[in-house]
Amino acid sequence: MAIIRENCVRDRGLILALVVMNLCLASVHVIGQTDIPTTTDPLLSFGFYATSCPRAERIVRDAMHEYYLNDPRHAPAILRLFFHDCFVQGCDASVLLDTADPKEPAEKEAAPNLHSLRGFELIDDIKSRIEAICPRVVSCADIIALAARESVLLTRGPRFAMLTGRRDARTSSAARAQRDIPLPDADYDTITKSFRSRGLNEVDVAALLGAHTIGRSQCKFVRNRNVESTTCSNHGNHTTDLDIGSGGIFDNHFFVNLRRGRGILTVDDALMSRLNSYLRVTAFAYDNELFFDQFVSSLLKMSSIGVLTGVDGEIRQNCSVVNGPGPLNPFNDEVVTPRHHPPRHPKKPVVISGRATGSQS
Ligand code: HEM
Repeated sequence: MAIIRENCVRDRGLILALVVMNLCLASVHVIGQTDIPTTTDPLLSFGFYATSCPRAERIVRDAMHEYYLNDPRHAPAILRLFFHDCFVQGCDASVLLDTADPKEPAEKEAAPNLHSLRGFELIDDIKSRIEAICPRVVSCADIIALAARESVLLTRGPRFAMLTGRRDARTSSAARAQRDIPLPDADYDTITKSFRSRGLNEVDVAALLGAHTIGRSQCKFVRNRNVESTTCSNHGNHTTDLDIGSGGIFDNHFFVNLRRGRGILTVDDALMSRLNSYLRVTAFAYDNELFFDQFVSSLLKMSSIGVLTGVDGEIRQNCSVVNGPGPLNPFNDEVVTPRHHPPRHPKKPVVISGRATGSQS
């Protein structure tokens, strides 16, 4: 890994320019195959709530704007929450559930989430605002997805439409989260295997790790080699920007830093450990637009992993607990129409082609 990085970073000039041009073309080719967003699941769509709750997306937008003005760190927290939701049994808001039975702790309690994942109370708040005007219509899973979309926009990233129509899970497992969320010191093969099992390719890996262009990491996760260039070296600091020098802005500077050997997490630096991936990083570092386009396409793909649609799952009334049982709760689809739920992981994600343009709200 070090050899590739040192050689490649040193050799700039004409060769690099040619490599970058080639790579851009190669990347565009990959992106080009996915230019118009489509989904194999007709129940997941853009503007799903256009008639059932037309104000839903606006409420999410306004709330996120409010939180962001109050504390910009809310934006990266929500984007990460979305990733952790989607990677464990699909984008189904299972990450929001509180533990119901201490013998079977929920995802929140798993090591990668505990004392690390944030933003639960924001989603709960948005949910209560939406419930006040459209009771039991908008899922918690969609609220996370829409809020994540706003997080990208608020931090000056791309504007795009988010797929909606997801429903909420009735289960959540810490053991599963422990198994399914990649570790910060994962190597390239481990990450790509994890992403591949969810239908995400190596281009998606690079683009989605680009989310580390915003937000912070606890110092305990920072690569030793790079501690000196972070705020972790100052006594008393416990966190540092993941993208040194541009931590609050959603841009391609994260990739510029990777090329300078300033990856904060081992998993970030892993993107420099394979030639193809190094070339992708280089293309993103040189072309912000290319990164934005690919990020949107890859995020929409991620947003479709293992989704529950139609009459599967439920629309939770409170994001941190499943709906109550039986006739006491007329909103519980499980009781009205008992269904068998086949295991949803790993599941072929809805195929998304391309990026979305414009916003639904
Ligand atoms: C192999 C995959 C990944 C690993 C191992 C990983 C690991 C981490 C770690 C260790 C942190 C710091 C957490 C802390 O200090 O408590 C972090 C932060 C973050 N991650 Fe990732 N991540 C991965 C992929 C992603 C993806 C795919 C996204 C979104 C699409 C994402 C979005 C974020 C964001 C926005 C933050 C900052 C959170 C904040 O400031 O609160 N990550 N990640």
